[in-house]
Amino acid sequence: MRPQKGLPTALGNLHLRSTVSNESANPLREGLSNRAMPQPCNVVIFGASGDLTFRKLIPALYNLAADGDLPGAANIVGFARREKSDESWRAELKETTAKCSRSGLNEEVWDGFSKRIYYHQSEFGDAAGYARLKQKLDALDAVGGTRGNRLFYLSVAPAEFEGIIAQLIAAGLTQSGDGSWSRVIVEKPFGTDLATAQDLNTIIARAFAEGDTFRIDHYLGKETAQNIMVLRFANSLIEPLWNHRYIDHVQITSAEQLGVEARGPYYDKSGALRDMVQSHLLQILCLTAMEAPTNLSADAVRDEKLKVVRSLRRMSADDVSRDVVRGQYAAGAIGGKQVPAYRAEDRVNPKSETETFVALKLHVDNWRWHGVPFYMRVGKRLAKGGAEIAVQFKEAPGVLFNSAETPLGPNQLVIRIQPDEGVSLRLQCKVPGSTLRIEPVKMDFHYGTSFGKQSPEAYERLILDSMSGDATLFARRDEVEEAWRFVDVIENTWHASTTPPPLCDYPAGSWGPKEADDLLERDGRAWRRM
Ligand code: BG6
Repeated sequence: MRPQKGLPTALGNLHLRSTVSNESANPLREGLSNRAMPQPCNVVIFGASGDLTFRKLIPALYNLAADGDLPGAANIVGFARREKSDESWRAELKETTAKCSRSGLNEEVWDGFSKRIYYHQSEFGDAAGYARLKQKLDALDAVGGTRGNRLFYLSVAPAEFEGIIAQLIAAGLTQSGDGSWSRVIVEKPFGTDLATAQDLNTIIARAFAEGDTFRIDHYLGKETAQNIMVLRFANSLIEPLWNHRYIDHVQITSAEQLGVEARGPYYDKSGALRDMVQSHLLQILCLTAMEAPTNLSADAVRDEKLKVVRSLRRMSADDVSRDVVRGQYAAGAIGGKQVPAYRAEDRVNPKSETETFVALKLHVDNWRWHGVPFYMRVGKRLAKGGAEIAVQFKEAPGVLFNSAETPLGPNQLVIRIQPDEGVSLRLQCKVPGSTLRIEPVKMDFHYGTSFGKQSPEAYERLILDSMSGDATLFARRDEVEEAWRFVDVIENTWHASTTPPPLCDYPAGSWGPKEADDLLERDGRAWRRM
């Protein structure tokens, strides 16, 4: 399928060869239709002193500038409570960007880029601070060609949203007019359950239309996640096999070696299910399981993803006890280094019952996936870091080569989301020689070697899309709420039931609790070794 001229789409932005004539020769822009070009704007980051701003947002904006992708007229205004000058904030950002940017830091590029960065000190609830912000943005518009376009990035705790949005409305900062726009990017966590997510959605909708609301799920910005649809729907080989007739089961894994780091206070209230499953893992599941959309517009793609979450079989308390394993890391060793137990981490309750690991078995109750289990696991302080989707096909018939005495392994298609992004396919092959010996071989594709260039960071892609007004890679209101509906049942069973399932220990540096292995073993299956 080739993107066609003028296709109103984000997926048209993928690195496909395109028939569209581009405004820019930059490869990142290949396939961009005119409509999807990032537009000049002022980006206001609420939470400018936060870790995300230093580690991800500014490095992403810097790399966009370095690659020539940031619109010529675009400024960044950091909004935070602490006293700082433009100069001192720029100096801090330079240091952290040099450490966190995927391409390092080029002095000349930084000098040009940093002139577009400003700091705005204000309390989040101070009306005068917003009036001053408006003056600043108007002044930047007047000199810099940013056309009154505003992109507000809420990188703050959800408890701050309501106050910030009320102040933005009162200061007249959310009005679009004369062809200008006002958009909001919202960081996760998007609520802590269905009710809080609905509240947040209502609050945001007071100021921003759904089409101007960009709920970040950074997994959707990862190159391989974007490739799932291309792999499935641009290859006639794959899609006919992508169903219950040929697929035995699917495993989705996101494993981290890192522990909770400095995020104890947030994480201890959240846990792995809310932190990772409700968002990233369900999004990946949707891309893997969805039907082909009618076109590549943001809503057509998100309509199909929504159907997947709606098709998830709702769990009873018994299902949760049987099919969901929760674990918490104990002390152990990662890469030969001793690391503490979760309960001994900084600002974590020493008696915490929060899960740092979840494994679960899900069913997508529709025609395509009837009887095909989806297993998911996610955890911190695991043996290895990485994220992947492993699709295991049904075994070849048990005649000729696949005998009961010498069974062959099944074919497996693995989409590696990170690290070493790529796709591999395991096939059975005859070992050269005069005897008939069959062994599995791997056909492997690596992004790095095949395309000879680094993939952009997820945040680069997502920021650019929000500047273009393209919400395909962002979660829509109904998607988020439906995902909470599914997750809430599990949370309630864990926390509101009189006989909650156990929280299982696992040593840091392992693959999680034994119960997670049992979950698959019961079905005659095993987790793929990553
Ligand atoms: C974040 C979670 O959304 O994703 C973190 O809040 C997690 O707990 C992180 O560590 C993982 O992202 P990545 O890109 O490193 O896999």
